Amino acid sequence: MDEVTRGARCLVVCPDIRSASYDLDAAERLAEAEGLALAIGVVIAHSMILPIRQMQPNTLFGSGQVENIAVLCEQHECELVIVDGALSPIQQRNLEDRLKRKVIDRTGLILEIFGERAATAEGRLQVELAHLDYQQSRLVRSWTHLERQRGGFGFLGGPGETQIEADRRMIRQRMARLRRELEQVRKTRALHRERRGRAPWPVIALVGYTNAGKSTLFNRLTGAEVMAEDLLFATLDPTMRAIGLPGVEKAILSDTVGFISDLPTQLVAAFRATLEEVTGADVICHVRDMANPAYAAQKKQVMDVLADLEVVDRETGESAVPILEVWNKADLLDEDRHAALRDAADAQDAVLVSAASGAGMEEFEAAIAELLTEQAKEVTLTVPLSDGRKIAWLHAHGDVLDEADAGEGEEGPLRRMIVRLNPKELGQFASL
Ligand code: GTP
Repeated sequence: MDEVTRGARCLVVCPDIRSASYDLDAAERLAEAEGLALAIGVVIAHSMILPIRQMQPNTLFGSGQVENIAVLCEQHECELVIVDGALSPIQQRNLEDRLKRKVIDRTGLILEIFGERAATAEGRLQVELAHLDYQQSRLVRSWTHLERQRGGFGFLGGPGETQIEADRRMIRQRMARLRRELEQVRKTRALHRERRGRAPWPVIALVGYTNAGKSTLFNRLTGAEVMAEDLLFATLDPTMRAIGLPGVEKAILSDTVGFISDLPTQLVAAFRATLEEVTGADVICHVRDMANPAYAAQKKQVMDVLADLEVVDRETGESAVPILEVWNKADLLDEDRHAALRDAADAQDAVLVSAASGAGMEEFEAAIAELLTEQAKEVTLTVPLSDGRKIAWLHAHGDVLDEADAGEGEEGPLRRMIVRLNPKELGQFASL
């Protein structure tokens, strides 16, 4: 976000379009939009829901509503208007002309947040790509911005070419370069993951709706200061740390970007890129803000994304990876609700915690450890007695329940071992 916008007084408008279907109700969407606005550092001078019976192609809002927005902007001394919806380039330009103020739509807003928060190379590339894609459609408006970026290299664009065509070409070239860089970064990342995959440590992925408390929980578990801010999307890129759990010497904990409803289509790829870790995880911890009134709708959003990633079956709701629900912000619940949720958590695959106070953390850690070890299966393996390395590996990694001599094989005497191993360890053993 440029300096002009940071600290700017803004008006947040949440259009409530009659013909549209929403997952959250208007008040919940407005609250979420306010959170997003705060995340880019603006000051909310006023916010409101505007019902729309019929969308106006030129301005989205009716002329009386535009008039009303203009008056409120004057009254509240706003420099910026944030519309929590998708505006076409024409609607955005017309609104800016009529309101004589900068107007940002939901996609623009989330792009700004992603841009500020992207921490890894891949995240940054994805966000820039999404940004360029967005700009491309709004080229008339971004002319001065591109001009500035170009930094005086006036030789672009041959004679007779219009400025817009030159800009368009520049964007296309930049996007092509970004895609190549992205491909490279992805290859490196896949290689890292492959190496990690071979390491004998299970992966635990934290997922959840934005602001659910994932970073806070991550810090609690790792004792590390990651980024925990009362801002949405404090984490755009997965962050990984090794942790110890009861009975599990070492596990990799992976924090992921927060989920959000109605993610603009340009951002889906950027968002997915940060979730690849989830598909390979051994346990998924779904962190939920139980103090948020929209907690049920938020869960649905998260489950939908997990279904998109093919982790969860959309029809049956069954998951390929065990999911532990972490009911967070217990400290904000009143006594009755706290008691009710505690009982409900006991009856389900859930734990009630407060990442902020640390309450319930021991139980949480034990639950993850149990899920990890639960997946272990008893297997019978026959190994040549001469293969000391394999036998030692089984003793080091598995739970050896029984072993005995098992006659002669091609490679000499054999040893039969009954061992508890989880699927991952079994795979590792096979590739020894
Ligand atoms: P994104 O990065 O946006 O996805 O958010 P996140 O899920 O990582 O949330 P984060 O840990 O940044 O927490 C969001 C806000 O909730 C912060 O202000 C935290 O201090 C607060 N918070 C987290 N856990 C708790 C909790 O158990 N109780 C209370 N009262 N606040 C909490």
